[in-house]
Amino acid sequence: MPLKQKTSDLKERMKNALKGGGSKAIEKQKAIGKLTARERIIAILDPKSFHEYDLFVEHAAKDFDMEKKRLPGDGVITGTGTIMGKPVCIYAQDFTVAGGSLGYMHAKKITKIMDHAMKLKVPIIGINDSGGARIQEGVNSLAGYGEIFYRNTKASGIVPQISVILGPCAGGAVYSPALTDFVFVVDNISKMFITGPEVIKTVLGEEISMEELGGAKVHSETTGNAHFYAESEQECFDQIKQLISFIPWNNKKKAMAFPKKQPKSKIYPIDSIIPTDPKTPYDVRDVIRAISDDSEFFEVQEKFAANIVIGYGRINGDTVAYVANQPNVLAGVLDVDSSDKAGRFIRYCDAFNIPLITLVDLPGYLPGIDQEHAGVIRHGAKVLYAYSEATVPKITLVLRKAYGGGYIAMCSHHLRADFVFAWPTAEIAVMGPEGAANIIFRKEIMNAENPDEMRQQKVDEYRSKFANPYVAAAYGYIDAVIEPAETRKMLIHALDISANKTEECLDKKHGVPPF
Ligand code: HXC
Repeated sequence: MPLKQKTSDLKERMKNALKGGGSKAIEKQKAIGKLTARERIIAILDPKSFHEYDLFVEHAAKDFDMEKKRLPGDGVITGTGTIMGKPVCIYAQDFTVAGGSLGYMHAKKITKIMDHAMKLKVPIIGINDSGGARIQEGVNSLAGYGEIFYRNTKASGIVPQISVILGPCAGGAVYSPALTDFVFVVDNISKMFITGPEVIKTVLGEEISMEELGGAKVHSETTGNAHFYAESEQECFDQIKQLISFIPWNNKKKAMAFPKKQPKSKIYPIDSIIPTDPKTPYDVRDVIRAISDDSEFFEVQEKFAANIVIGYGRINGDTVAYVANQPNVLAGVLDVDSSDKAGRFIRYCDAFNIPLITLVDLPGYLPGIDQEHAGVIRHGAKVLYAYSEATVPKITLVLRKAYGGGYIAMCSHHLRADFVFAWPTAEIAVMGPEGAANIIFRKEIMNAENPDEMRQQKVDEYRSKFANPYVAAAYGYIDAVIEPAETRKMLIHALDISANKTEECLDKKHGVPPF
């Protein structure tokens, strides 16, 4: 056959493969606001950068008449491309082909592109839109999932792994996203659960819709399984690109540097964020914006455990990660969920060379029967472990309250912060003045002619003696008490001089964090 003929044969084959599950299935996909798998990849990557591989892979199933069925690309599209000019590996399950179900060859395509990402040391982005294990392929589908989970684990801490849930992601399939670093969900499109509403109804007699069980809002607000929530696929793709701009391509690199920009100090005046009354809440994100380049803050898990704020910004053009108590929500306490949220984020940033800036304002760990029984001891320990283990530059700024275990946990010097600064508004003590006065002056208060007056007197006495940064500074636990206006300058200097920080790893295989 002459080349010309062979070329047109190739083109014909490609044309057929590119039809995916056919126009009817594509129409059904579009009718519910979903793009096709290829459209999604193209929308995420730089224009014209997508290169597809394994287009002609066929499924290998023989049972249940499968041998008579053709499944173009076996229901998953894989390839490489670039984002902001830098390479990434990517795959997208194609729901129009057998519901994007995962059979043996489908899994092989995914694991092959994951292996590429590991070898090339580039991020891997997986778009999930699938009915789960291909029922006709039995144990081979389960084997496929197992191979993916193994690679997710091996790749963890080496290349960034991003999961995008753009359709169903049910059964064991959810564990690949759960093993990855960042999970993106879209309202009304993403559905994630181990067992669906039907099974729940049969087994437990409980009724719930798919959306209420495992929709985008549930995972971004309640379970914490998702890190980013979007109202449309396009908004989700923009978020992915924004995230990619903040994180390094692999664990040996630093994140891309951007032109330096000053914060918008007129909108975020740093001197007037903390209220005069120590009990009045405020939004700690205003402090982050007051110190970040261009006042930009890219928040992670915004709606989950909002009593702690985590996310990325830049200082002098370089990425930094913020972990900040949020006085606006539950006074910024650490609890089960906020400890999980912070602990994992700290470990991610440590694995990927992103300096940590910790902003402290909390009354401590949340007391209560629910929290104790939910394991606040075990979960709270994750924060201590993650900070102690982290060897990236760690800079802490105490804004206001740093009481009790909260003081220690929020990257104090004792957990090896490189620098701890405090504003004059800082209060560093074992507990708040009210609680402390009630305990240590109980007898005086009880026996006083006017107990309320005596309580207030003792509270004031305690506050003036201990609720300030100077006792801690006298012991060297605070390196410098600084005016708020000096903060950015101090951070820039601290980041500059920590740029080449190195710490010897201890001779152990790995630690055993309180998972
Ligand atoms: C084979 C599947 C499939 C599957 C869907 N399809 N899921 N084929 N194996 N798991 C096929 C359908 O037969 C149909 O084929 C096409 O995909 C589209 O599916 P529909 O049902 O028409 O779509 P929709 O109404 O949108 O419903 C989507 C759905 C539903 C909610 C995902 O398909 C569904 O419930 N599927 C089964 C989900 C499930 O129980 N999966 C197994 C989970 S257990 P035709 O030819 O008609 O177009 C699991 C274990 C993994 O995954 C363990 C790993 C450790």
